[in-house]
This record gives sequence, C-alpha cells and structure tokens, in this order.
Amino acid sequence: MNWWSRYAEHATAVAPSLLSADFADLGRDVARMESAGADLFHLDVMDGQFVPNLTFGPLVVAAVRRRTALQLDAHLMVSRPERHLAAFARAGADAITVHIEAVPDPGAALAEIGSLGVRRGLSLNPGTPLDAVLPWLDRVDLVLVMSVQPGAGGQSFQPAALDKLRGLTARRAADGLGFAISIDGGVNDATAPACRGAGADILVAGSYLFGAADPAAAIAALR
Ligand code: DX5
Ligand code: ZN
Repeated sequence: MNWWSRYAEHATAVAPSLLSADFADLGRDVARMESAGADLFHLDVMDGQFVPNLTFGPLVVAAVRRRTALQLDAHLMVSRPERHLAAFARAGADAITVHIEAVPDPGAALAEIGSLGVRRGLSLNPGTPLDAVLPWLDRVDLVLVMSVQPGAGGQSFQPAALDKLRGLTARRAADGLGFAISIDGGVNDATAPACRGAGADILVAGSYLFGAADPAAAIAALR
C-alpha cells in the first residue's frame, strides 16, 4: 500500500498544477478544481536558478492552505531546497518534493522533510536516469517523474518518462515499498492512458485542466 492510497478515492488521482491557474483569482480556481473532483493540488515553486522561471513561495502555499482541505504537494524546483523546507511545512504543505539534481545530500533533505511531519517527495528531470533515485526509494513517500523539462507549463509529454514509471512500479513491487508514483508535464487525455498503464498513481496536470471548458469532464478523462 502506498502513502497516497490512504487518501485515494480513485485508482488514479488527479492533481491540478496551480501553475496554470489565474493568480489574481487563485481561490476561485482552487474551489473550481476541487468541485470538479481534484484529489489533491500540486504547487510549483521555482527559484530562477534551478529553473529560469520564478513563481511563488510559502506565502502562496499558506494562502491555498486556507482555501482547501485537500492534500498539497509543494514541488520545489529550487536549488538547495534545504533552506526552505521548514517554511513550506509551516505554510501547510502535506508533501514537499525536492529534485535529486538540487540536493547534494538527498538522505539529509528527505530526513528533514520527514522530521517536519510532511510526506517526502523526490523528483527527477527527464535527463536524469532512474538509477539516481533508486538508492532513496526506501525513504520516500512520493516519486515525481518529470515528463517535461521543469520550468514551464504547456510543454509536450516526453514518452521516455513511461519507462521510468514502469521501472519504479517494478522496483516498488520487488522491494515491497510504499511510495506513490506521480508524473508531471504534458499530461492530458491523450497521454494519461499510457501513464496509468505504466503505473502512475497521481497525474499532475496544469494547462490541460485549466484550459478545459469543463474541468470535471477533463479530470474524469484523465482518470
Ligand atoms: C513544470 C511543472 C508542472 C507544470 C505542468 O515545470 O512542474 O507541474 O505545471 O504543466 P502542464 O500540465 O501544462 O505540462
Ligand atoms: Zn510540477
């Protein structure tokens, strides 16, 4: 049983990425996605260093926290995220996901996230081999596979990510581990079936969901 299955109402969960929300109407968009059937929210934090773009920090996570009881995963696309873990935990993140490429000592970063009482997420870029995260799988709650280069929404899905999903699914079963498997980038109604088939528990989607005229139908299509 993976961590997420405690909360899961659906075999595959859908996590709207708030990167594609209207930041002038964030509360409205959170409510709209929640009533459309979102299972949790994905919050993309960018620092202008690990990725070129800048988004938001703990203040916005705390603001979203006040508007929903759903689980919040803070995806830190940030160099040396160790400096900010406590602030995101205080802001109300339920999971904090750091990049393997951004932490010199993944074991220490994951241990600190756990000690803050938050679920431990580990992500890897398209160019990073799955081998890089294998040593840490016994101490994570979530693995977030990037199917686009992090930094922007609206990019095309890179199918090589499916091999990583399959590798994680196999390794989890072989070792009897309990992490959830999530995929982020270019997820839409055309790419979701392959993601589900390869073992993803959580589908993150930004532009597809926020661009949909009927978000409830779009969430249902992903599942
Ligand atoms: C990309 C972010 C994603 C992004 C996905 O750096 O990590 O979460 O919002 O956007 P779409 O679903 O549009 O690819
Ligand atoms: Zn993300």
